[in-house]
Amino acid sequence: MLTTKFGEFTYDNPFMNASGVHCMTTTDLEELAASEAGSFVTKSATLAPREGNPEPRYVDLALGSINSMGLPNKGLDYYLNFALEKQEAIAPEAPFFFSVAGMSVEENIELLRKIEASNFRGITELNLSCPNVPGKPQVAYDFPLTEQILEQVFSFFTKPLGVKLPPYFDLAHFDQMAEILNKFSLTYINSINSIGNGLYIDPETEAVVIKPKEGFGGIGGEYVKPTALANVRAFATRLKPEINVIGTGGIRSGQDAFEHLLCGATMLQIGTELQKEGPAIFARLKKELTEIMTAKGYTSIDEFRGKLRSL
Ligand code: SIN
Repeated sequence: MLTTKFGEFTYDNPFMNASGVHCMTTTDLEELAASEAGSFVTKSATLAPREGNPEPRYVDLALGSINSMGLPNKGLDYYLNFALEKQEAIAPEAPFFFSVAGMSVEENIELLRKIEASNFRGITELNLSCPNVPGKPQVAYDFPLTEQILEQVFSFFTKPLGVKLPPYFDLAHFDQMAEILNKFSLTYINSINSIGNGLYIDPETEAVVIKPKEGFGGIGGEYVKPTALANVRAFATRLKPEINVIGTGGIRSGQDAFEHLLCGATMLQIGTELQKEGPAIFARLKKELTEIMTAKGYTSIDEFRGKLRSL
């Protein structure tokens, strides 16, 4: 009932982790592979391992989370070795996702050249939206730079590729970004990364709650669902049909998943709520989404995906 076709691939269900959550180590990744998630994605890798920002750098909040992790990761080779070792064990028709996030255009190109040259047969996600590295603005808020990077990437990269985008807040920006994305053979876009540079304050201590960047950090969870739905909808209605949309942001229940699918998402990523509940969340989300579909008389996601009604 939840079978999902994504590009040329078929998954048992649309649920997966959002990069950054439960995917730092091979143990985390093995746990996701063994869970009821339809797929999973690795932590965004840089060429060399990174410690990331000082702690505390992630805090759960009543309505979501704030983080400024700063791309801690074990480096490209660690995740690529895992991917090459494990990809045979995973059905070739349902490969997992590999995320990269270079600190510069040159690093992004080098990361992707290494993946291109390897035997990796999965899907690659280029993260253009990390808000947490001091001194490095989110690439995808710079439209000419985004186009320039994609031009360079598609001059040599031949494997399935998607981009992780930050949220946009203006219809003109949806139009401009969609026009750029439509020029390229992307397999997908992933909307949204956290809402960058929010500020959460503890009124008791009169202090911020995370250490990096004077407390400024990416906001996820329930706070961001309307923004995530708007971005999924805006891109699903503007991008050429070959470009799938992964919906990420504020999915805590089968109802949230249903709404993302109604907006046009194909796969669904879980960040904050996976951090709170652990990989058992995937069985719950599958059950809740199936119950909603059954109650509404739907037998497949394709019967309602993208069919949000206007008034
Ligand atoms: C981080 O490691 O700071 C989070 C990554 C992201 O938001 O892209």
